Amino acid sequence: DFDDDSSGRVKRVKIEQNGTSDMDPKKNPYLAHQYNDVSKYASNASGDPLANFKRHATTAKQAKIAEDGPKNAFTGTNLSPRYFSILKKRRELPVYEQRQEFLDLYHKSNVLVFVGETGSGKTTQIPQFVCYDDLPQKKGKMVACTQPRRVAAMSVATRVAQEMDVVLGDEVGYSIRFEDMTSDKTFLKYMTDGMLLREAMNDPDLTKYSTIILDEAHERTLATDVLMALLKDVVLRRADLKLVIMSATLDSKKFQSYFHGAPLLAVPGRTHPVEIFYTPAPEDDYLSAALRTTLSIHDSQPEGDILVFLTGEDEIERAAAKIRAEVQEADMGPLDVYPLYGGLTPQQQQKIFNPPPKADVNGRPGRKCIISTNIAETSLTIDGIVYVVDTGFSKQKVFNPRVRYESLLVTPISQASAQQRAGRAGRTQPGKCFRLYTETSFKDDLIPQTYPEILLSNIAATVLELKKLGVEDLVHFDLMDPPAPETLMRALEELYYLKCLNIDGDLTEMGKLASEYPLDPAMAVMLISSSEFYCSNEILSICSLLSVPNIFVRPNHAKQKADEMKAFFAHDLGDHLTLLNVYHAFKSDEAQEDPKQWCHEHFLNYRALTQADNIRMQLKRIMERQEIELVSTPHTSPKYYDNIRQALVAGFFMQVAMKQSNNRPYLTVREEQKVVIHPGSTLKHEAEWVLYNEFTLTSANYIRTTTAVKPEWLIELAPEYYDIEDENFPDGDIKKALRRARNGVHRSEKGRK
Ligand code: CDP
Ligand code: MG
Repeated sequence: DFDDDSSGRVKRVKIEQNGTSDMDPKKNPYLAHQYNDVSKYASNASGDPLANFKRHATTAKQAKIAEDGPKNAFTGTNLSPRYFSILKKRRELPVYEQRQEFLDLYHKSNVLVFVGETGSGKTTQIPQFVCYDDLPQKKGKMVACTQPRRVAAMSVATRVAQEMDVVLGDEVGYSIRFEDMTSDKTFLKYMTDGMLLREAMNDPDLTKYSTIILDEAHERTLATDVLMALLKDVVLRRADLKLVIMSATLDSKKFQSYFHGAPLLAVPGRTHPVEIFYTPAPEDDYLSAALRTTLSIHDSQPEGDILVFLTGEDEIERAAAKIRAEVQEADMGPLDVYPLYGGLTPQQQQKIFNPPPKADVNGRPGRKCIISTNIAETSLTIDGIVYVVDTGFSKQKVFNPRVRYESLLVTPISQASAQQRAGRAGRTQPGKCFRLYTETSFKDDLIPQTYPEILLSNIAATVLELKKLGVEDLVHFDLMDPPAPETLMRALEELYYLKCLNIDGDLTEMGKLASEYPLDPAMAVMLISSSEFYCSNEILSICSLLSVPNIFVRPNHAKQKADEMKAFFAHDLGDHLTLLNVYHAFKSDEAQEDPKQWCHEHFLNYRALTQADNIRMQLKRIMERQEIELVSTPHTSPKYYDNIRQALVAGFFMQVAMKQSNNRPYLTVREEQKVVIHPGSTLKHEAEWVLYNEFTLTSANYIRTTTAVKPEWLIELAPEYYDIEDENFPDGDIKKALRRARNGVHRSEKGRK
């Protein structure tokens, strides 16, 4: 199927000289105020292996002695055999050779850029290098290492806890949204970049930390970009804070110049050559091409594991099932198939590190095949991969500020991503990468670099966070790539409609309250307003359920049965109310007797529901702190569902669509996008006005999680957004319908209770 193209080999890229930077204090504002001559401090004789360590003046040699044991330098307990076997492997990693060089620069400068290819040991080793020198535990401080992805934060923390021979959650822990795996003992904390940003809102100088490592900076996530901009200044204010920017790509100069020429250290790569193959003609269906290619590799290629890049959970699970079935049916050699995506449990994720199965009696190689989202592109390193199947796609955020629409879309990757993916095949030996697209397409169709997320997102939540942080002048906020002016304007407008900002763009009381929730502003506003509608208990449940993956399970072999079960919970007025029905049923005594079994029987995702329960508790705590009353309308009251639906409107009034006459599709308010209600919705389709939570662009413009609402509520609860006298309000059916509703509204005003 493939053209052999030897010119397409991944070149080993030479990184320019290390440590190029200005050590002249006049030019480099991040020079450490003092650094000691390290030669004075050598080995130690006392019981504490770290007794002679002088902060920011240690050597690689000292650390090595301490790491050699026999006692754990941080806990004082005897080190386990596993520790020593991992230690041996760690010392073979490329970064290990540069430990002293790293420390030298780390001592001299408070900001440091560290670049190294994926798998060189940045994420697992550098934070440990830092801990042995920064000694956060002696100062009551912590070292933070951020990750753009939850899975990476959990997985790496698990690994590093093993490497340091401590219990996960004790000295080494992780923190991701709605899950805190740390304790008083924790001094090395892996966390999502979003979590650190949230912490900054309450503690702008991030005083808990003595060193902050922003990892995977090349991913250019929104939160990392904002953190870089904030920390750039914090480091100047706090002479005792050190910042390490870590990145996998060669954009390092950009980071270096952004940080006023901070020193740059690059680990030379140690990858093997990877042969690249392209398809001779474009593939119509990348999924079936990926399956075919994977099976053919397994059937015909020598030993070595396979990594397949697909785009999302459903697709990956389907592919995994098909490959397993085919391998069995065609009686191929042993193959263990592991899916890898964000929604997996930590235990499931750890399985990707299992060794491959042994060769069978006929001598056919046993291998593992990991089918992954682009999480395996740079965030997680799996040893033993020799074959990469690159479909050329990933799910990426897309935002169109004009129609205020944000969605995850299957999008072609960039050339840089393709290079990274290919690189995964050459970690341990020469490898092969099968690109399921043509060479021409690679050269002409793929953009060189992936766009930073800030250019592709709705930044309303970020703007709110920045306002809370006291950043007044957003236009001049020093971001590496500023968002498009229209995107910023849209975000400000949205926050204004939500009453989080006033007309001057200042944070309102509502804005302050909303910023404390780890939720999108509209959702936070809905939650805060819900007590006014006598349904804060119910809206709290709905918010929690909207914050977890789909709670309905619909396996291929039992779709009908699953749909029947869902119908059992279905509410005619919409999906939000259906979610609520499920939650109430889940909390009933009957279900709680054996909730796992109950979920299984009812085709519900037990893990998602438990997670929602946990999230509910955490959100509730914030509400209690804000003294928001937790109340319910009596279930028997005719107002019960109306109140809930009105509270939904109070937050999501900007996500409403109206059915056009003559069976034409729904049209979103203001932006006037044609949309279709997702077929999985429990809403009776004749509803004229619907509120939706999600807008997904697949074959059709689907709106998902929809609930029927009334136009008079829209006018009453969001008079400015629904101001039809506003000259920007488009003329048409919607305006007419709103006018009709407005004329009726004064006659039908009633109390809520
Ligand atoms: O961050 P970077 O890509 O530079 O490398 P890393 O994530 O620190 O991984 C370095 C090495 O640690 C990998 O090549 C694996 O050998 C090992 N590792 C592992 O065995 N299990 C993990 N969960 C993570 C890393
Ligand atoms: Mg890494």
